[in-house]
Amino acid sequence: MYILKPTASSCGRGIRVIGKKQSVNKRPGYLISKYLSKPHLLRGYKYDMRIYVLVTCFEPLKAYIFTQGLVRLATVPYSTGKGSLKKRFIHLTNFSVNKKSETYVKNTGGADKPKTEEDEMSFKWSFDQLRAEYKKMGIDSDEVFKNIRLLIIKTLMAVEPQITTAMRTTKHRNQCFEVYGFDVIIDAKLRPWLLEVNVCPSLSSSSPYDKQVKTLLLCDTLHLVGYRLFDRKRIDDDKKKENKQRLLGFESKNKQPKSTQDFDDLGETPKLSLKH
Ligand SMILES: Nc1ncnc2c1ncn2[C@@H]1O[C@H](COP(=O)(O)OP(=O)(O)O)[C@@H](O)[C@H]1O
Ligand SMILES: [Mg+2]
Repeated sequence: MYILKPTASSCGRGIRVIGKKQSVNKRPGYLISKYLSKPHLLRGYKYDMRIYVLVTCFEPLKAYIFTQGLVRLATVPYSTGKGSLKKRFIHLTNFSVNKKSETYVKNTGGADKPKTEEDEMSFKWSFDQLRAEYKKMGIDSDEVFKNIRLLIIKTLMAVEPQITTAMRTTKHRNQCFEVYGFDVIIDAKLRPWLLEVNVCPSLSSSSPYDKQVKTLLLCDTLHLVGYRLFDRKRIDDDKKKENKQRLLGFESKNKQPKSTQDFDDLGETPKLSLKH
């Protein structure tokens, strides 16, 4: 079996699963990959994982894997039977596809809310929920996550030469960072497979859990890259004042723009949920 995807698209748009006996015409702008027909299932449903990875440097490679992420389940039990291939709610695990399913249940839990029965039945899980389910199934979650980690490192190493070459020509190469969204699927033998890597992964939130993960992700990212908050208006005002003083013939005593330092103590100690 194969899966046909438009190359410059997202959210499961234009994707088709193709059976053994089907043929497709050559189409520019489409990618055909082998379909992983025996995925690992959770309660009979197919799922994939969205894992966030921050790269602060490619030369030498420095990457952080966010320990929290999203497990996205399909909304109709998995089958490869006759007539099932066209059913997107069986084969695609994208939230944007499955939210339209009649059976979709939201995850209403968050950091400070107790888990409800609804969360148990929801179609977007946390990694903690996944680990607990693996435990019930007798699966060693540490082993699965260790293999995912290796997959991520190998993927980054594979693109390292192209990215470092391209970076050498950029002006601000020491100030670059990128957050990637890795889509990973687990097969029936518990091996992880890379589906795709998203640049600019969606940071919109459809549930409190989503919001929690994405807020922490942004927070940790900004802490790790050392971003400092500053008030542009105050800096501009300071500059204007300084120029005025200069025009009047006074030399400014303080050459440093004050305002950038005012925010030094704004950040709390980062809650580091990213692993190096
Ligand atoms: N090779 C594959 N085998 C099995 N399922 C796949 C495969 N490729 C994609 N899928 C399913 O299709 C969904 C969308 O594919 P993906 O490559 O992530 O495209 P998009 O950019 O639209 O999200 C995945 O989340 C997964 O459920
Ligand atoms: Mg995807």
